[in-house]
Amino acid sequence: MEWVKKFYDKQFRLYEEGLTGPNEEHEEILAKIENLASKPFQSILELGAGGGEFAITAAKKGYDVTALELVSSRVDYMRKLKSEHHLIGELEIIEGDFYEIELPKSFDVICYIDGFGIGEDQDQRKLLKRMSKWLKPDGCILIDIYTPWYWAYVAGQEMKIGSKLRKYNFDFIGCRMLDTWFDGEEKVTQSLRCYSPQDLNMLLEDTGLTLLDIKPGGAMDYMTWKYREYVDLDKAMSYMVKLVPAN
Ligand SMILES: C[S@@+](CC[C@H](N)C(=O)[O-])C[C@H]1O[C@@H](n2cnc3c(N)ncnc32)[C@H](O)[C@@H]1O
Repeated sequence: MEWVKKFYDKQFRLYEEGLTGPNEEHEEILAKIENLASKPFQSILELGAGGGEFAITAAKKGYDVTALELVSSRVDYMRKLKSEHHLIGELEIIEGDFYEIELPKSFDVICYIDGFGIGEDQDQRKLLKRMSKWLKPDGCILIDIYTPWYWAYVAGQEMKIGSKLRKYNFDFIGCRMLDTWFDGEEKVTQSLRCYSPQDLNMLLEDTGLTLLDIKPGGAMDYMTWKYREYVDLDKAMSYMVKLVPAN
């Protein structure tokens, strides 16, 4: 997992100029989470909170959010956003590693939006077990999972982000999406394990969690360069899962 800090710091710096803070996209994610949670809740733990756009959106609506993020540049940006927005709920920002951090609280909802799949299956299991410890007994965990079929299909796809080149690839042995950003001589790659719902069910064994619901996400069509917010599971780049305690 050597690449993690380097990639997410570099990606943030390449994106930074164009960042505009929370927008409708984050409101839609919140609406999706409220819908999947299917009952009122108050506290949210967000893992891999990035620049904090979702955390701010949720705290603006009155939720109490704990946002955990590994990379300092992203945490600094999140703190800046916090100072610029009027929040109704609490927002606690923690710079730390979700594999190591001790959290003395439990939460109604734990979410990980975009980015699940770092490391090997045993790493995901370790994280899922940690999540289950941080979850209130009647709470739920909501995670975006990348589908193998979308990422296998778009392997080789290149695109320009500003003046930089980005290229997708797929590791067909390890079932991982590979996302490489080129900046002059430098390149950084994100590598995320992709899971079908059945793979995920196997991953959940011994975690104390069970899969209750699935909501397919969107897909980019590279023929037309149009993004569709919701598509059927067989076309989706990811799907959000709802996990709950197994008994
Ligand atoms: C793909 S980004 C998604 C960011 C944000 N959730 C979003 O949707 O814009 C994944 C995020 O997870 C963070 N991350 C990766 N490993 C982590 C770890 N071990 N502990 C905490 N955060 C981590 C990365 O730094 C990055 O900001």
